[in-house]
Amino acid sequence: MAGKKDTKKKKVLFVGDTHAEFAFMNYALKELKPDVAIVVGDFGYWRKSDFEESGTEPGYFFDSLVNDQTKVYFCDGNHENHKLLRELVAEHGSDKPIRIRKRLYYMPRGSTLKLNGKRYLFVGGALSIDKEFREPGKTWFPEELLTEPEVKAIMKTVDLDKIDVMVTHTVPSVGIDDVCKACQLQRDWLLGTVSEDNLQLLFERLPRVRDWYFGHWHQTAEFTVPRSRVNFHMLNMTPYEGCLRGKGYSKKRLARVEKEYMERLEAEAAAAEAEAEAVPEEALGSETPEAAEVPAEKPEAAGGL
Ligand SMILES: [Fe+2]
Repeated sequence: MAGKKDTKKKKVLFVGDTHAEFAFMNYALKELKPDVAIVVGDFGYWRKSDFEESGTEPGYFFDSLVNDQTKVYFCDGNHENHKLLRELVAEHGSDKPIRIRKRLYYMPRGSTLKLNGKRYLFVGGALSIDKEFREPGKTWFPEELLTEPEVKAIMKTVDLDKIDVMVTHTVPSVGIDDVCKACQLQRDWLLGTVSEDNLQLLFERLPRVRDWYFGHWHQTAEFTVPRSRVNFHMLNMTPYEGCLRGKGYSKKRLARVEKEYMERLEAEAAAAEAEAEAVPEEALGSETPEAAEVPAEKPEAAGGL
């Protein structure tokens, strides 16, 4: 007989695109204490050094490990260092979580995870609409797109009949009209749907899937499509309204965490403004101060889907 199983349901938190700004996720993890957090791509895996366990940059990823209970899994979005991610896959394979650091795992395209008796399939990738403003090999990688050979390989290696939940960065093309509606976009404005069309090949081969989580579009929506029992959950980017979903949490609770965080940010901004106004004019000197040097932006902070 097998050993006694832990039957307690795990609390699972889904988090929208973080874009390497982890302060909100840290806050949400501390407030909600999930067992597992799943980021739906555009996590912001740009540099290995940002995730080293000895990291000391305030507010950076290591802070989220304070609760010491949440395991974080992310699929790749378009805004990641795909060269580094490919190196990880070459070393460890693409079928299971790849450990980045304590309690942080990359989920390659075609990797699966079992949670609460349900089997999750992760398939990242999407198009950067701002790629012309990015530097190939540094802040943009052609590997961002989900290709047909990748999907065919997933079909060969993964038993799709057993998948219950999908986690992707973008949506299969069957959902594009709903996404465009939520984002107030016209379909012919899109610069291409290669990844969406290839996800569609999977969508048509997943009889058990009822929940499909994705991000990328920086808006939130819940929708279904005709002749399908899949519930699509589109997550906004963090820290904005609709960037969290969860198993084991009420919608109200999640919305409260999102709102409280934004209120906290607003209060901090107001306090900083009040402090700046309180400085007597003479203390500023007579000459116009030179503009502070703008620090180099992290590539992911440049915006764009
Ligand atoms: Fe994205």
